[in-house]
Amino acid sequence: MALTASRIDDLKSVPSEFTFVHDSKSSSSDSIPTVDFSLLVSGNADQRSKTLLDLGKACEEWGFFVLINHGIPETLMKAVIDVSLEFFDLPEEEKRRYEAKSVSDPISAGTGITCNTSSNHKFLLWRDFVKSYLHPQFYCPEKPQRLRNIMSEYSEKIRWVLKKLLQGVSENLNLEQESMDEALNLDSCSQLYAANLYPPCPQPDEAIGIPPHTDHGLLSFLIHNGVAGLQIQHNGDWFHTNSPENAILINVGDQLEIFSNGRYKSVKHRAVVNTEATRISVVLANGPAPDAVVSPSAELVRRDGRGFYAPMKYKEFIETKLTNRYGEMGIMERLK
Ligand code: SIN
Ligand code: FE2
Repeated sequence: MALTASRIDDLKSVPSEFTFVHDSKSSSSDSIPTVDFSLLVSGNADQRSKTLLDLGKACEEWGFFVLINHGIPETLMKAVIDVSLEFFDLPEEEKRRYEAKSVSDPISAGTGITCNTSSNHKFLLWRDFVKSYLHPQFYCPEKPQRLRNIMSEYSEKIRWVLKKLLQGVSENLNLEQESMDEALNLDSCSQLYAANLYPPCPQPDEAIGIPPHTDHGLLSFLIHNGVAGLQIQHNGDWFHTNSPENAILINVGDQLEIFSNGRYKSVKHRAVVNTEATRISVVLANGPAPDAVVSPSAELVRRDGRGFYAPMKYKEFIETKLTNRYGEMGIMERLK
């Protein structure tokens, strides 16, 4: 069932199958950290060490930052948003080809369904999605035709930025430069493309785009069409995320929390909806190689006296998390 504009145009209230009552209020985004990528890769020594400090602080205190001056062309980012919107405009039968059958499908599309773990109540999300794995193997829906080229270029450019940011992370953690690459097999890193479409909603506090969750990978990169909706949790409060045009919103995922032995926290976030405008976001979720067995870095375990998370193969971690095997407790608590 797709959440197409035509289905919801005349709605005055949220249909019961979508109902998830919550409070979408949020605090100001003024204090959300910004990281200037250009200073990290081509600044002088002082600028570089200050930027490293910004990056470390952002990962430690917020698990989230706004990346500016990243060098990814604005035209490419716009093409990524536009072509993702074109996917949602395809005829229903074309999109239905990718209806999700299992959490490991390389390509999937549909309207999200989820289960409220505290009440065991299943409900639909106010969001249509399309997802495909771009790396280590490249999968892509056949249509729109230009999606393949655009995503392949974007995927490669984001992986380059990811590599530089993870080098910065290693440096901040005082690790040998190769140790993270080797432990997580980053040459075969996994990269998932997820486009989310959130149509206007008559009662934004009665439905949700994506409920509070953490991402399972290392770092997720999000761009959007300028309509607000992403909120992150910080010290128990929800903050909305305003970002300058052309910036990329980046959040720490579960595998970076595990690898850093808990120094960096996988940040809880959610997507809320609004009455006025359709929002689209495109996330590239970057993780270790699917077969990498992820555990806290050996060097950090040595320094801390013990590892705070049990090892688990990344592929299994994703499957366990997405099938909600540990219910409200969650997989991260289970590994502790
Ligand atoms: C996500 O958490 O995967 C997407 C959030 C958003 O659309 O802002
Ligand atoms: Fe997310």
